[in-house]
Amino acid sequence: MKHLLSVDDLTTDQVLELFETAADMHDVQSREVKKLPALRGRTVVNMFFEDSTRTRSSFEIAGKWLSADVINVSAKGSSTSKGESLRDTVLTVCAMGVDGLVLRHPASGAALQVSQWVDASVVNAGDGTHEHPTQALLDAYTLQRRLGSLEGRHVVIVGDLTHSRVFRSNIQCLTRLGAQVTVVAPPTLMPSGIGAWSASAGFETSYDVDAVLPHADAVMMLRVQRERMTGAFFPTAREYTVGYGLTRDRLALLGPDVPICHPGPMNRGLEIAADAADAAQSLVLEQVSSGLAIRMAVLYHLLAGESQGGMA
Ligand code: NCD
Repeated sequence: MKHLLSVDDLTTDQVLELFETAADMHDVQSREVKKLPALRGRTVVNMFFEDSTRTRSSFEIAGKWLSADVINVSAKGSSTSKGESLRDTVLTVCAMGVDGLVLRHPASGAALQVSQWVDASVVNAGDGTHEHPTQALLDAYTLQRRLGSLEGRHVVIVGDLTHSRVFRSNIQCLTRLGAQVTVVAPPTLMPSGIGAWSASAGFETSYDVDAVLPHADAVMMLRVQRERMTGAFFPTAREYTVGYGLTRDRLALLGPDVPICHPGPMNRGLEIAADAADAAQSLVLEQVSSGLAIRMAVLYHLLAGESQGGMA
């Protein structure tokens, strides 16, 4: 495996292998000295053309804990703001001898396009509304740690599906691991063509969150992505919350042990109430620490090389 552009790039065995490596990496987080020598001498560039808190910082920490040299390039502050093309920017950075390029970009397909221009291994850290494979891996890893196995477990994904790359990657990862998935959204935020996709990929769709939640083994709430909305997808924020938010009342529809996930950043009071975000069954912060372990595992497998047991 040279790049990680999509969950589809991975076989089920490779997903499970990444989870095993992530479990080892997870232990590093509780050590006093959080450093492994695996990527000594390798250089990783985080190139983020969209805002990010957890994805960018976890890729940076992951690279550093594996002893890689890590630098960050963002659109603001790079020559992109002077009119340089994406191709020229990545070729310039890669001409410095970069081994790994972690890319977030607002255009769907950007990571695939960049992977065809450069020799470095490219990790897709989110491309438009298309995919976010490390988020899906960390979500499935977090749920698997909590639930034991995902086989036959009912995972309910609720929110702005139209604009969500997290949902698109999660469908592939969760169904691959045997989960039964139901996705819920208002009709205006249900992607067009989902009927054919759900039939071929084997997941369910619903507009009725109250009917689905009592049967959930896990719930994943998605952010309302206002920055990607060009029109009015729902009348008011209040109406969205009443129809689709994980409110205090809806929390009562879930069993007390049913895990609640959210990839963050959360719009508290819109798609998720504080009672749910901060509930004992919320895995939101566990997702963040698992994300670090998963990103360490991904960088390790892509960049460590065969001599260190990597898949690269
Ligand atoms: C997600 C993203 O950027 O796609 N967040 C993340 O990576 N933690 C989801 C979102 O922005 O809502």
